[in-house]
Amino acid sequence: MQPVSPPQTYRVKSFGCQMNVYDGERMAELLAAEGMRPATEGEDAELVVLNTCHIRERAAEKVYSDIGRLRREDGSSPLIAVAGCVAQAEGEEIMTRAPAVRMVVGPQAYHRLPEMIAEAVEGKRAVDTDMPAQTKFDALPARRKVGPTAFLTVQEGCDKFCTYCVVPYTRGAEISRPYASLVAEAQRLVEAGAREITLLGQNVNAWTGDDTRGRPVGLDGLIRELAEIPQLARIRYTTSHPNDMTDGLIAAHVEVEKLMPFLHLPVQAGSDRVLKAMNRSHSRDSYLKILDRVRAARPDIALSGDFIVGFPGETETEFAETLSLIDAVGYAQCFSFKYSARPGTPAATMEGHVAPEVMDERLQRLQAVLNRHQLAFNQASVGKRCEVLVERKGKRPGQWLGKSPWLQSVHFEGDVAIGDLVAVDLQEAWPNSLHARLLHTAHA
Ligand code: 5AD
Ligand code: SF4
Repeated sequence: MQPVSPPQTYRVKSFGCQMNVYDGERMAELLAAEGMRPATEGEDAELVVLNTCHIRERAAEKVYSDIGRLRREDGSSPLIAVAGCVAQAEGEEIMTRAPAVRMVVGPQAYHRLPEMIAEAVEGKRAVDTDMPAQTKFDALPARRKVGPTAFLTVQEGCDKFCTYCVVPYTRGAEISRPYASLVAEAQRLVEAGAREITLLGQNVNAWTGDDTRGRPVGLDGLIRELAEIPQLARIRYTTSHPNDMTDGLIAAHVEVEKLMPFLHLPVQAGSDRVLKAMNRSHSRDSYLKILDRVRAARPDIALSGDFIVGFPGETETEFAETLSLIDAVGYAQCFSFKYSARPGTPAATMEGHVAPEVMDERLQRLQAVLNRHQLAFNQASVGKRCEVLVERKGKRPGQWLGKSPWLQSVHFEGDVAIGDLVAVDLQEAWPNSLHARLLHTAHA
């Protein structure tokens, strides 16, 4: 490949989950620490990082078409790096299929981007999909200025091996980042402007570590420590696995005021046969019992989940069990997906793949039920007084947008600033948001 001059500008495009958003931010910080600056809107970046997602649907195809779209009118391309889970899963294959790509870097190797860019500038092409435990985080620069809400990856990878899922292959085995470096990163995020931190992990509630006195602690121990940071107002965590929902974590929802009353606890399906075929290692009943314990501790908690419709072999009766589970729980908000066969996963070769039109129809019915519950949850909040963390300006003049403790989008008018935590009265509810009246400002 032709040598090129070192890139001065970059653009990182992240797809998929919140962990990819976090990784994208860290890559941007890394590039900025190397002296590059982000391309402004409409500007042609000299380096483009496509931080990809592989979890569902023709993910790889989308990446190839995104690469094609980066081609300039004169036939040249920026320096292109493919990062994220498609990079991990496809590796060398990307180099063969997309000659314009100079770098392929997996989610555990992106701290090596500066070296790879230097090689790419010389005309070389490099693939790094190694999975060294831990080294990435130690090699990244300190956090820079952030908005009022920030992500903090505390745990990565997954050992659960649900039969439909690529994560154990693309993100590797479960690792927990050490306690001290997480506390330090959280402190820096707060110094840089964060008022809310969301702890991230594929199985965030499987996080374990040793506290400053060397005692083993779970996620609740880390949450309790972070709650001591004075300027930090709110703590959230996602995504949790039912099997790792400890008594300590449930108790933290009562005892730690800064821990928000929200729990994302995916169940995926409501039928025990399907759950077993998915290798979920919990049953419908054991899942519901966990939620009973959570609700007994924190009755106002907003519950959230993930659902897959049309898993191989799913019958209409089994699908109806998912609908009845949703009715039994009454979720505040959820994510729902059509099953998508991921090459290399056990479910991809199972019998009884469900026809696409059946999946479409089931997804529509499922989402109708979820929307009904979401609206009901929002309507039940009308009349409540709560705090909202102001995140940005709304579309209308004088309007502001923020989140309630239950992660609802709330808009209101008044004299506030981004990052303020303000008291409001929730007044009107829609499926995706609420309108509120500002009571008073508790300036940061
Ligand atoms: N097909 C459809 N949905 C999937 N998910 C993970 N793998 C698949 C797949 N192969 C969904 C699950 C998971 C969420 C992050 O994505 O619901 O909880
Ligand atoms: Fe995938 Fe299951 Fe692990 Fe979640 S718990 S990341 S769905 S294998």
